[in-house]
Amino acid sequence: MQAHPSIQTNSEAQGCPFSGRISALPKPSQPAVTVDEHQVWHIRGFWEARTVLRHPDTIQAGFGAELGVVNTKLMRSPILYLEGPEHHQLRSQTSKFFTPKGIEKHQALIENTAQNLIVQMQQRKVVDLGQYSLLLAVQVAANVVGLTNSHIATMAQRIQTMAANPSKLGWFWQKFHRQRQQLAVLGFYFFDLLPAIAQRRKTPKEDVVSHCLSLGYKTHEVMAECLVYGAAGMLTTKEFICMATLHFCKNPALQSRYLATSEAERQAILHEILRLEPVIAALRRRTTAPIALTPDLTIPAQTVVSIELDASNTDQQVVGADPNQVCPMRPLPNQVQAPVMSFGDGAHRCPGAAIAIAEADVFLQKLLPLGVKLIKEPKLEYNPLIAGYEFQTMQIQLGGA
Ligand code: HEM
Repeated sequence: MQAHPSIQTNSEAQGCPFSGRISALPKPSQPAVTVDEHQVWHIRGFWEARTVLRHPDTIQAGFGAELGVVNTKLMRSPILYLEGPEHHQLRSQTSKFFTPKGIEKHQALIENTAQNLIVQMQQRKVVDLGQYSLLLAVQVAANVVGLTNSHIATMAQRIQTMAANPSKLGWFWQKFHRQRQQLAVLGFYFFDLLPAIAQRRKTPKEDVVSHCLSLGYKTHEVMAECLVYGAAGMLTTKEFICMATLHFCKNPALQSRYLATSEAERQAILHEILRLEPVIAALRRRTTAPIALTPDLTIPAQTVVSIELDASNTDQQVVGADPNQVCPMRPLPNQVQAPVMSFGDGAHRCPGAAIAIAEADVFLQKLLPLGVKLIKEPKLEYNPLIAGYEFQTMQIQLGGA
């Protein structure tokens, strides 16, 4: 690797590389920037990706932004689809929920939920890990959002049904599934959202729903905001916990190092797994003015740009040797954080990054010492809602060490 002038060297990086990537690899030797037949620009180089994600002349074009449902005059858009001063204002108003002090308030809940789930898993011995990581992720994000007046397991089922991708089913089952999804949306509205709103109208709390109500959001606008948090905070964390567990099962040396080390290094290991396996593999933006990537390469205005995080996270010029291998605490340029772009970059960078890593860490520290054995190779599929991988099942047995 060509040493970057601001590279951090790290003497503790021994033992690398531990293991390779499990989700599909980005196509090898693709150029940093290409344009496809639909005039969509595909960005794979790290610095080019950062330029686009940090550029003010872009708007959200992913997560259904261009389907005509959000950014209409009929309703306020959820945070993910806002831009400019409006977005900046909402981010700074809600940032208090994601500061270390804000996160500390959820620490006891994370500990207790993780412990209860582990006890339930121990009773059953063979379990689908995704069902438990989903419950943890839903419980924690629901607390941040303020959806705390309904039954968590039922809400988790509804969220999973809403997010499921039926595209591989035959037409009959697709139709059936669409109806289930509509019922799940209605169930979420009546049984999860309305009770939460009713309680917060009487007694506001320190959470997203209370904040939206204080700004005069209508019920359907609060619902849209909650659904963004559901997809962004719950489904992603569920998948990440499964992926981290899979890496630890396949790499006993990595697992031993994780269980024996400090919190800082545990976090570095989790960040490195997430770098290699970004749950959201691509982000989309539309340019609103020309954007110069280099002196000779400019993206025209009104162009859709797909930022391929799985490729930019493995840009060898930034992450160094063995880019497709797990190598915690790898030397990185000073301005690049360990998960590289797995939490995004720029104005929309994930506010929940620290919470996601904290809950994964608590859960894995309790789970792994019990001896986790894979029953069979898990099935990974692509979920277009989060533009990333999804574990269909991940059957594990406890006590298999
Ligand atoms: C491993 C878990 C997670 C991953 C991989 C992840 C990833 C991301 C990414 C890549 C974005 C940027 C989207 C874009 O630029 O278009 C994002 C945004 C967001 N995430 Fe996360 N996220 C995770 C967990 C969480 C959690 C736990 C929460 C909240 C409790 C959360 C809340 C959000 C919100 C509200 C946004 C939108 C921010 C904005 O538009 O300003 N995420 N996330």
